[in-house]
Amino acid sequence: MQEKIKIINPGKEKTAIGLLSGTSVDGIDAVLVKIKNSGADTGIKVIDFETYKIPVKIKNKILINSNNSTAKIADICRLNVIIGKLFADAALNICIKNKVKPSSVDFIGSHGQTIHHLPDMTPYEGFKVKSTLQIGDPSIIANVTGITTVGDFRIADCASDGDGAPLVPFLDYILFRNKNVNRGLLNIGGIANITVLPKSCEKDEVFAFDTGPGNMLIDGLMRRLYNKPFDKDGRIALKGKIIKLLFDFLVQDKQYRQRPPKSTGREYYGTEFLNKISRLTRTARKEDVIRTVTEFTAFTISYNYKKFVYPKVKLDEIIVSGGGSYNPVIMNSLQSLLPKVKIVKMNSKGISAESKEAVLFAVLANENLCGNPASMRSVTGAKKDSILGKICLA
Ligand SMILES: Nc1ncnc2c1ncn2[C@@H]1O[C@H](COP(=O)(O)OP(=O)(O)O)[C@@H](O)[C@H]1O
Ligand SMILES: [Mg+2]
Repeated sequence: MQEKIKIINPGKEKTAIGLLSGTSVDGIDAVLVKIKNSGADTGIKVIDFETYKIPVKIKNKILINSNNSTAKIADICRLNVIIGKLFADAALNICIKNKVKPSSVDFIGSHGQTIHHLPDMTPYEGFKVKSTLQIGDPSIIANVTGITTVGDFRIADCASDGDGAPLVPFLDYILFRNKNVNRGLLNIGGIANITVLPKSCEKDEVFAFDTGPGNMLIDGLMRRLYNKPFDKDGRIALKGKIIKLLFDFLVQDKQYRQRPPKSTGREYYGTEFLNKISRLTRTARKEDVIRTVTEFTAFTISYNYKKFVYPKVKLDEIIVSGGGSYNPVIMNSLQSLLPKVKIVKMNSKGISAESKEAVLFAVLANENLCGNPASMRSVTGAKKDSILGKICLA
């Protein structure tokens, strides 16, 4: 066993795979990377990135079982194994595609699939905890692929009362801090989050938080109104107009106006929130509904910047990643709401807008195997830093 742990020599260049399915449940992202050193010295080379399909029936089960009123414990028990197997297949497929033998991969880092995230310290039977649950067990992945797998990165931070989210600021800090510019990194996935990297910042000067919905409201309403998973290239939103009544209602929402540190998820911007929108818009044109929630999404990001970032750090640029960066209505609206900030799409160091989060999980696995704490308590609100993730040897 000791021998297997010793494969991690920080200085040696390692081959690793990062795996992730985000809150959008739009597919399993897999990235094949070469990784060297650790911490602030980490060197990353992306070899390939691919998104693998999740069967529609499984996607629907994940959505149903992420909702407190429709979830069933037997389903979650099965999905934990099924998602583990789908993730393992994704890892093996990216190996085949690149003619890489699984036995030559040093490790996998897997986020799993979040099915619940409860960052509020609500009293519960005499206890007060923050909690989060990712399924797709890393021991399934390790056993199917034969590759050492590190997974379940969020929960360690909950041990010291952190939210376990967002995790991406660590990657942002090690790869994108800069001497000359105040840089923001915005990821628009199901939920949107921003990392703020002041010029020449130290790790504890980084701050980051979830701004509110990313694509989650747009996707939810596209499913309801058009039976489609998302608004490709913002084409529907482009045809619509803002419904003032709906926009004014959305703007009153308190969640996105909370002070950081904060994180959010499907628990808030899921079925019940969508029901409220549907009730208000029974007679509205469908494209107008999509336009309005798309504009609201951009608005929540700009609101959070103006209220919680600008007073501390005036950003020169915001680099955008995640699927929302492919929606021109979000991107154009953001640029006009924040005219002084250069808004650009992520494409640097071989990392694209879509591969960034998967790269994060390869990097976090590397940190774990090197014994480094990768949590950021300035971001998650935790009382101390933790080594994130669990190691499953193959
Ligand atoms: N071409 C596109 N046009 C508009 N939206 C897109 C496009 N590609 C992806 N998206 C949006 O991005 C989402 C996926 O983003 P992703 O970064 O994978 O989020 P997550 O981390 O939550 O899985 C999709 O559900 C969709 O809403
Ligand atoms: Mg995704």
